Amino acid sequence: MMVNIRVNGKQYKKDIEPRLLLVNFLRDELNLTGTHIGCDTSNCGACTVLMDGKSVKSCTVLAMQANNHEITTIEHEDPELDAIKDAYVEEQGLQCGFCTPGMIIESFYLLKNAGDKEVDDDYIKKNLRGNLCRCTGYRSIIDSIKKANKNIKEREEIHVSR
Ligand code: FES
Ligand code: FES
Repeated sequence: MMVNIRVNGKQYKKDIEPRLLLVNFLRDELNLTGTHIGCDTSNCGACTVLMDGKSVKSCTVLAMQANNHEITTIEHEDPELDAIKDAYVEEQGLQCGFCTPGMIIESFYLLKNAGDKEVDDDYIKKNLRGNLCRCTGYRSIIDSIKKANKNIKEREEIHVSR
């Protein structure tokens, strides 16, 4: 079947098998291999992407369900996403890096949707519960998200005061 899917701001029209998973569409059809496959039980969250701004595990979505929708992956170019990536490096929020694309996309989502909630340990833990890391322990990941939040807020303040 033919699908039209917008990925990271670019429109793709592809003829695909109806049973193709979104994660395989991204990796195999578009060569966007930053989205990882870490399990076959929908547990790890390494495959997390945004679909119309909402976080989804792309191994649980058929590519045809993304037809006429907008997908955001770790390859997306965006200043806030860059700030989160930098914070993960600064706070050593990764070791092997396998879970990291999913962690960062989920971080992007939880920071965007924090509204006036405080981005504290509880808020982060609650929102990151669908993402597993086999290496780092979660302390440095939580610290990375807090650092990203601080950096993004500071940048916004500088922008407003100009
Ligand atoms: S690959 Fe593990 S949840 Fe999708
Ligand atoms: S950094 Fe290795 S799985 Fe998370």
